[in-house]
Amino acid sequence: MNKFLVVHGPNLQLLGEREVSVYGKVTLAQINHALQKEAEALGVTIEILQSNHEGALVDRIGNARVEFDGILINPAAYTHTSVAIRDALAACGLPAVEVHLSNIYKREDFRQHSMTAPACIAQVTGFGKKSYLLGLRGLVSYVSKTITAKKAPVARKRK
Ligand code: DQA
Repeated sequence: MNKFLVVHGPNLQLLGEREVSVYGKVTLAQINHALQKEAEALGVTIEILQSNHEGALVDRIGNARVEFDGILINPAAYTHTSVAIRDALAACGLPAVEVHLSNIYKREDFRQHSMTAPACIAQVTGFGKKSYLLGLRGLVSYVSKTITAKKAPVARKRK
């Protein structure tokens, strides 16, 4: 069974009470519950981490390769600043999908650039809680296609 690491960056533990006009009333616990249900439906398992500390996120991403098949990440504010998280994503070599609750391209200028997205296979932004669920689906589909492609026998050339 494929296993995925879900990473929530800084301040996301405050969802539900933080800037409700931007992020809505959904809490991190509700997002995690929905992700667990989605993972079950997709036949995969997930492990979830939230941290406000860049180094803790870098450490977990850096040693994710031995345990996981991919990473679903909302780097939150570190999206716009963290070369360290971008490098960790690139270094671990796992497919990663970046997600955001809000549409970062409709917000302040400084949010419209993602430092981390170039180290990811895709980005889902602006669907609220559903960004996470869509991101997980996309990631699972990407990983299962990659595994199938690796296992598929090489077609023999006809003589
Ligand atoms: C966010 C967008 C970021 O710009 C912000 O710093 C966050 C949340 C989002 O999910 O919309 O903390 O990643």
